[in-house]
Amino acid sequence: MRSTEQDTHFGFRTIPKGEKADRVRDVFIGVSSRYDLMNDLMSGGMHRIWKNALVDWLMPQQDQRILDLAGGTGDIALRIVERQPNASLTVLDLTEEMLAMGRDRAARLRSSGDIAWITGSADALPFAADSFDACTVAFGIRNFPDIPESLAEMHRVLRPGGRLLILEFGHVEVSGLRRLYDRYSFSVLPRLGNLVLNDRESYQYLVESIRRFPRRKEFAGMIEAAGFVNVAVRNMSFGVASIHSAWKI
Ligand SMILES: C[S@@+](CC[C@H](N)C(=O)[O-])C[C@H]1O[C@@H](n2cnc3c(N)ncnc32)[C@H](O)[C@@H]1O
Repeated sequence: MRSTEQDTHFGFRTIPKGEKADRVRDVFIGVSSRYDLMNDLMSGGMHRIWKNALVDWLMPQQDQRILDLAGGTGDIALRIVERQPNASLTVLDLTEEMLAMGRDRAARLRSSGDIAWITGSADALPFAADSFDACTVAFGIRNFPDIPESLAEMHRVLRPGGRLLILEFGHVEVSGLRRLYDRYSFSVLPRLGNLVLNDRESYQYLVESIRRFPRRKEFAGMIEAAGFVNVAVRNMSFGVASIHSAWKI
């Protein structure tokens, strides 16, 4: 199928942009109950290190208003309020079922932080311009139907001087390692999804969506095109994941 401006990808398939949010929501409704467990199993706990690195780089300050976009079950928001209980957190996510898990977790942890949980989509944020001091996105952006539009929205809702940090899977550049990583991703992860959740397709989508995500340099260019400056990248675990940092001036 030839791709047009109205199209996007869902894993290796090309679909109309308008269909992607519903498909992605279905994936995350299906995996929400075991999402946190699967993250630990799939990454051997590495996602915790990558997420801690994001919060380290953010260095949340007292009274900061922080938007965690595609915040899911609250993994980033809960880390931030643990580090800085006086920050004010807003978690926005497309999938109510993921947010429900996050709210329950926050209650179980008796998190004393100030966290608002909001259902919405990254390409039409329900916030006024200049509302936040920082915006984080962890493992969410590759799922968005319109990445440039979503980056423009992040730029709009950040105040001048505001900070953007995006953690996403990357591309392993060392060829021997890449072969191993590919073999692990394409053969082990869908099987694990099948075993734990009886859902092979969602984890096949996960692996394919990672391969379709732009390379680091191209993604840095997209962030700049949305109006951000001082874009910097940190690679982790041989490029399996990376963090892009940028500022609105
Ligand atoms: C892989 S999870 C990441 C959750 C969390 N940030 C973490 O690191 O554990 C991806 C999340 O992105 C959300 N998502 C996907 N498309 C979205 C969109 N267009 N707007 C907002 N959230 C979206 C999904 O509902 C899901 O909760």
